[in-house]
Amino acid sequence: MLAIGCDHGGYQLKQYIMKCLGEKGVEYKDFGTYNEDSCDYPAYAEAVSRSVVSGECEKGILICGTGIGISIAANKIHGIRAALCSDCYSAEYTRRHNDANILALGARTVGSGLAMKIVDTFLSASFEGGRHAQRVDMIRELESRG
Ligand code: RB5
Repeated sequence: MLAIGCDHGGYQLKQYIMKCLGEKGVEYKDFGTYNEDSCDYPAYAEAVSRSVVSGECEKGILICGTGIGISIAANKIHGIRAALCSDCYSAEYTRRHNDANILALGARTVGSGLAMKIVDTFLSASFEGGRHAQRVDMIRELESRG
């Protein structure tokens, strides 16, 4: 199960991505926002992030205007490695090397076609482990030191 959430700036792109995921048969849970009224991105970052760290959802997608605020907020939650990507190479390697569990997108910086390619790339790539696992462990260690 994939968690997805956004603020008002990401609403239209979230709708498009959910339509594409539905067509591909990818199961997702929509954590809102559910309209284009102005709202606060940290709330949606938290809802999606909690669903990922609890294990309810395996990965998440977060969208705001730039993808910046919502990724900063998500990365405050223990266990979240949210990567803001605007190209497919980054989306692939943040899975392979960083074991990112949330993809953040900027709806005002990336077109919908590219955004969906980035989503597909992120979902199909796998963590390589090995020396990268050691580095991700070091990130966890930094997190635990606060
Ligand atoms: C909302 O206007 C905008 O600030 C938000 O979507 C996001 O870009 C924040 O980083």
